[in-house]
Amino acid sequence: MQKGTFPLTTSSRVTYMRLTLLGVFFLCFSLLTGAEAECSFQLNPQRVVVRYGGSVEVTCNTSVSHKGMGWEASEGRVSKTNDSLITWRVSELKEWDIKPLCYINPNKGAQCLVKLPVTVYKTPDSVSISTVNHTGPMKEGQQYELQCDVHDVAPVQNLTVKWYKGQTLLHQTNFSDTENKTLVNKTVTLLIRPDRADDGAQYRCEAELDLGAEGPQPPPKINSSEPLNVEVYYKPQHSSSTETIIKDDKVMLDCSVKANPAPDYTWSSDHLNLNISSSVIKSSALSPGKYTCNATNILGSDSKVFILKSTDISISFVNHSGAVIVGKQYELQCIIQNVDPSKSVVVRWYKLSQTNSTDANMTLVSNSSKLQISPSKTDDGAQYWCEVEGTPPVSSERLNITVHYISIRFVNHSGAVIVGKQYELQCIIQNVDPSKSVVVRWYKLSQTNSTDANTTSVSNSSKLQISPSKTDDGAQYWCEAGTPPVSSERLNITVHYKPIINKIKLPSTVPVFRGYPEVLVCEADGNPKPTISWSLGAYDKKDSEKLNITESTPENVSCTANNSVGSDIGHVKVILKEDYLPLIAGLIAVIVAFISVIFIFILSIYYKTAKMGHYSLKNAKPSAQNGNIAQNGKHNTIPMKKLSQSSILA
Ligand SMILES: *[C@@H]1O[C@H](CO)[C@@H](O)[C@H](O)[C@H]1NC(C)=O
Ligand SMILES: *[C@@H]1O[C@H](CO)[C@@H](O)[C@H](O)[C@H]1NC(C)=O
Ligand SMILES: *[C@@H]1O[C@H](CO)[C@@H](O)[C@H](O)[C@H]1NC(C)=O
Ligand SMILES: *[C@@H]1O[C@H](CO)[C@@H](O)[C@H](O)[C@H]1NC(C)=O
Ligand SMILES: *[C@@H]1O[C@H](CO)[C@@H](O)[C@H](O)[C@H]1NC(C)=O
Ligand SMILES: *[C@@H]1O[C@H](CO)[C@@H](O)[C@H](O)[C@H]1NC(C)=O
Ligand SMILES: *[C@@H]1O[C@H](CO)[C@@H](O)[C@H](O)[C@H]1NC(C)=O
Ligand SMILES: *[C@@H]1O[C@H](CO)[C@@H](O)[C@H](O)[C@H]1NC(C)=O
Ligand SMILES: *[C@@H]1O[C@H](CO)[C@@H](O)[C@H](O)[C@H]1NC(C)=O
Ligand SMILES: *[C@@H]1O[C@H](CO)[C@@H](O)[C@H](O)[C@H]1NC(C)=O
Ligand SMILES: *[C@@H]1O[C@H](CO)[C@@H](O)[C@H](O)[C@H]1NC(C)=O
Ligand SMILES: *[C@@H]1O[C@H](CO)[C@@H](O)[C@H](O)[C@H]1NC(C)=O
Repeated sequence: MQKGTFPLTTSSRVTYMRLTLLGVFFLCFSLLTGAEAECSFQLNPQRVVVRYGGSVEVTCNTSVSHKGMGWEASEGRVSKTNDSLITWRVSELKEWDIKPLCYINPNKGAQCLVKLPVTVYKTPDSVSISTVNHTGPMKEGQQYELQCDVHDVAPVQNLTVKWYKGQTLLHQTNFSDTENKTLVNKTVTLLIRPDRADDGAQYRCEAELDLGAEGPQPPPKINSSEPLNVEVYYKPQHSSSTETIIKDDKVMLDCSVKANPAPDYTWSSDHLNLNISSSVIKSSALSPGKYTCNATNILGSDSKVFILKSTDISISFVNHSGAVIVGKQYELQCIIQNVDPSKSVVVRWYKLSQTNSTDANMTLVSNSSKLQISPSKTDDGAQYWCEVEGTPPVSSERLNITVHYISIRFVNHSGAVIVGKQYELQCIIQNVDPSKSVVVRWYKLSQTNSTDANTTSVSNSSKLQISPSKTDDGAQYWCEAGTPPVSSERLNITVHYKPIINKIKLPSTVPVFRGYPEVLVCEADGNPKPTISWSLGAYDKKDSEKLNITESTPENVSCTANNSVGSDIGHVKVILKEDYLPLIAGLIAVIVAFISVIFIFILSIYYKTAKMGHYSLKNAKPSAQNGNIAQNGKHNTIPMKKLSQSSILA
């Protein structure tokens, strides 16, 4: 067999030529086939991979004239023949290390031969996985050995054993260094150091025969072991050793931790005796403080500290303390401590009005963390508090509001005041620091002229005596106290006074001429506005400021002005006066006429006795003075008649 190598070396020159033409692959190919120039062979196929017990058929042919050729093999031998194509054929190949060769005895030269490479393979009967010298759960951190047994496989140099954990390839082993072509048993081991993550993992091994391109297509099935389930024991270990918890109905102190076997829990605190074996406790069931939980299993223990805090909320004034002053602006703030920073804090403000303590009313005021208030008098005694949303909501203590205010009122009086009387005003100062003396100032705003009101400081005692005058009507009083001064509301003064009849417009005696009616005016000043009534003797009364009087009006007339404060009476004497002027004029006319008649009579006697010229009485005209009188008399004939008539009536 060693002989066959000789021609190879002699033909090296030709081989090098081929090398330059066809490259390295062809060189390898020519080496394997052992082809040579003198005796050119052709094996088909040039190499075989055959399953143990499988059939195989390879032809060897040549174009060279020869003296005989044949196959030499432990099975399927073909004896020397003159044919140019001979076939090596085995129907059931059961020899591991079979080395068939084809030879030829050429007419010229020495015998030459070629070997047929044969790979006989067999997939393993079984692949199994086991733990070496161990049963039951593994412990975290310790080393264990896994073993993979591959039974009856060949060839071992084509065998690869792969280790998997789940789908992850951990390791693989090849046996390419051995030349053993027969059936072998192979045991491969793997050292593992499992951790807690490996609890429940599945390990397995695979035996793979890698027979390359000449191998069977498709490649033989990969044999895998059954999975080996691994249980790992590990001790409890918390991800954090301390935790701060804000007390809330929903929040738990959760000590739960993964461990195998499952841990037991014990709780302890420095201020409570706890006998709890559960892994979680409701935070609402505990008082604030420090709680330690110990989780223990057979491998060890781990403890965790919970710092339980409760939300603290307090209410206060911003830059203020004590009583508040009506009308001023104040700010309330809600100081919140220990809230869960991951949550948004909703603050609600509440106010409990105590205008009527039996009917207190709680009102949601705002939901910001600061609140502006401007207290009014009715807010005295009200309570404010704030609340943080949560389960349950946490409330601050209640802030009692004391309103410092000043009020003004009459002592033992209400309503209008009356001129001339004495009244007392009182300034009531609510919620002032009793240790401090307070100066009270009184102010008065006169409203005699509304466009020119005048504020006057009146006094500085807490009570003020006033004796209002008529001009004080509409005036306002108020008081002021403290530093900075706080003013009371304004007290409007209504001044009432009794009526006074205007005596200039209503004289005590009124002369009335017959036929000339007169008007009497009774005006009275008073607050409230007086009512006027006339009394005409015993029978007549009229409600009007003016009264018409005639000659029929009784002699005594009185006017009464009346209001809630008092009354005033004005008496009027009506004097009936006759008009004598026409009477005197008539008398004078009669006398003149009488004198004229006597004078004419004397003249006529004189003319008759002395016969001094002619005088005509017809043409005689009265003197200017007499004519005037006569005319006056004539003019006033009608009133004269009337007068006489009325005098007759009278
Ligand atoms: C298995 O354990 C036995 C006894 O404990 C020991 O004698 C043997 O060497 C161990 N085998 C392996 C492979 O560790
Ligand atoms: C091949 O292995 C088998 C079984 O392990 C052994 O009996 C035989 O001697 C080995 N052959 C060679 C050449 O190593
Ligand atoms: C392999 O092991 C099996 C069972 O232990 C045995 O029957 C068989 O003969 C062994 N094969 C070889 C080649 O040692
Ligand atoms: C496996 O077998 C093939 C074909 O028989 C061979 O060519 C190859 O070299 C072998 N692989 C190994 C790693 O031994
Ligand atoms: C936890 O409990 C175990 C068993 O009771 C004890 O051995 C261990 O010291 C405890 N650990 C702590 C931190 O208290
Ligand atoms: C206070 O409540 C009582 C009873 O409900 C009621 O009679 C009274 O009028 C109330 N006073 C005020 C100022 O609302
Ligand atoms: C409280 O006051 C609000 C608004 O002022 C009113 O709507 C509500 O009915 C009151 N509730 C009670 C109980 O008086
Ligand atoms: C607020 O007033 C209420 C009742 O008027 C009283 O019970 C409480 O003690 C007061 N709170 C404070 C802080 O003064
Ligand atoms: C009121 O003021 C106006 C203008 O200042 C003035 O003309 C008028 O006389 C005043 N009246 C009285 C009653 O003082
Ligand atoms: C207010 O009245 C006082 C005294 O009656 C007087 O002295 C003062 O000037 C007046 N002020 C004004 C603004 O009229
Ligand atoms: C007092 O009078 C002023 C002006 O005349 C008026 O605006 C105010 O409302 C009155 N006050 C009271 C309590 O009646
Ligand atoms: C008074 O007389 C005038 C005319 O002289 C008349 O207009 C008026 O109505 C009279 N008044 C009464 C109250 O009679």
